[in-house]
Amino acid sequence: MSLLELDGVKVHFPVKKGILFDRTVGHVYAVDGVSLSVEAGQTYGLVGESGCGKTTLGRAVLRLVDLTDGSVVLDGTDVAKLSEKDLRSFRRRLQMVFQDPLGSLNPRQNIESILSEGMAAHGIGANQDERREKIREILAKVGLPANALSRYPHEFSGGQRQRIGIARALVLEPDVIICDEPVSALDVSIQAQVINLLEELQESMGLTYLVIAHDLAVVRHISDVIGVMYLGSLVEEAPSDALYAEPMHPYTKALMSAVPVPDPEVEDRRERILLHGDLPSPANPPTGCRFHTRCPWKQDTLCATDRPALRDLGDGHKVACHFAQEIHEGTLSITPASEAVVLPAQATGEAQDATEAEAAEPVGAAKAAPAGTAAGERADAVPVGAAEAGPADGASAPKDAEAAEATDVAAAAAGPEGDEAPEATATGETESADAPDGAEATEGAPQAPSAAEAEPAEEPSPAKTDSPKV
Ligand SMILES: Nc1ncnc2c1ncn2[C@@H]1O[C@H](COP(=O)(O)OP(=O)(O)O)[C@@H](O)[C@H]1O
Ligand code: SF4
Ligand SMILES: [Mg+2]
Repeated sequence: MSLLELDGVKVHFPVKKGILFDRTVGHVYAVDGVSLSVEAGQTYGLVGESGCGKTTLGRAVLRLVDLTDGSVVLDGTDVAKLSEKDLRSFRRRLQMVFQDPLGSLNPRQNIESILSEGMAAHGIGANQDERREKIREILAKVGLPANALSRYPHEFSGGQRQRIGIARALVLEPDVIICDEPVSALDVSIQAQVINLLEELQESMGLTYLVIAHDLAVVRHISDVIGVMYLGSLVEEAPSDALYAEPMHPYTKALMSAVPVPDPEVEDRRERILLHGDLPSPANPPTGCRFHTRCPWKQDTLCATDRPALRDLGDGHKVACHFAQEIHEGTLSITPASEAVVLPAQATGEAQDATEAEAAEPVGAAKAAPAGTAAGERADAVPVGAAEAGPADGASAPKDAEAAEATDVAAAAAGPEGDEAPEATATGETESADAPDGAEATEGAPQAPSAAEAEPAEEPSPAKTDSPKV
């Protein structure tokens, strides 16, 4: 049995209307039947466009949102069946690292207080001295100096703050760490350091990760298995190497085609599949195969009417497409009526320029959009992997999303309807609901050393500064 098992997980948010009577007029099918397993000591990478339900799935695992259907089983325990009391202690075993480290750290607490809060709530360490000792040890592991203990979140750089976020999860000795877009808010150079750190920690501490990202490049090296999500469900899952070597679902093919290749010769020959339109609304998903409105291989039969199941096509390579085999064998070509555009990278000089510019950035897929327009083929063709090309529902605004998540964690940690039991701080994130505000942060931290005293907020050299792998 795997350490973490999700079976048919659905999270449907009701859409309400009316002033006096809240009528449910529909649902947002944020997560719509996801089954996956994460093995102990391994990393499962979950990728997909913004708005496809990745964060909601992560929150469902932590039971920060209720499951509409399905089950989440950690080490044999069904998370949905836990009582509120048991859930609080159980949450220690499942920790989350957020996208926006500043948004999830209370600006008024120093690092020792932030890290020891959850430990005290979960009974880790007999007293504060013991806890401080353990925190020092973990800070060293994540590459932060011991004097970080008495400092405040605003005194650190983005990368350092993410290290603090990781340390906060680690001090609770969790079984699984869910990293939701752990590097999206960071500079590109720092992204690689943080990903490498996660990898090193996994090796030295035997950690298990579920890493969520909108960008295939971010999860590539760290993941053992990768799941690709589209509109609330998995469309492809495979061991990392197999997925990169031979993506089989049309959506994954398009995602991969947006990732620049460092070799200029290969890059020149590379075909790019630009998909038409945005991700459809999860409140009104297309019938049949959810991808049929954008699929370059869409067929007249089945695609618009029957929802394809995730089938194992061999060696654990699972694909949810009626025609995966035919597409893979090349017996099915792109439909002429398709609104998607297959664009050889050399089609125009401008398109190529855009690609080259991106090649310097590991998360290049995110900004591939201009290539479509520059080519003059379709002004409205948007490459998938255009990171924030999701629905204009605000889900992709990192700050807002983070604040909302932090609030939810706080709400969940605080128990139902304002339950103020001491366990409220169990996850150590209760205070993080406070919107971080630069001015407020400074005011609220009177003991914080002045800016002059504070060390420059630069990345410390991490324990090991390998060349970036991303
Ligand atoms: N609490 C909520 N109520 C209603 N809709 C929500 C809620 N949370 C997320 N959604 C919607 O669910 C969809 C998936 O969101 P999310 O899980 O944040 O996607 P991702 O993390 O992949 O960007 C989005 O359309 C988002 O607007
Ligand atoms: S089932 Fe049809 S629409 Fe869906 S991915 Fe396969 S070919 Fe495309
Ligand atoms: Mg998200």
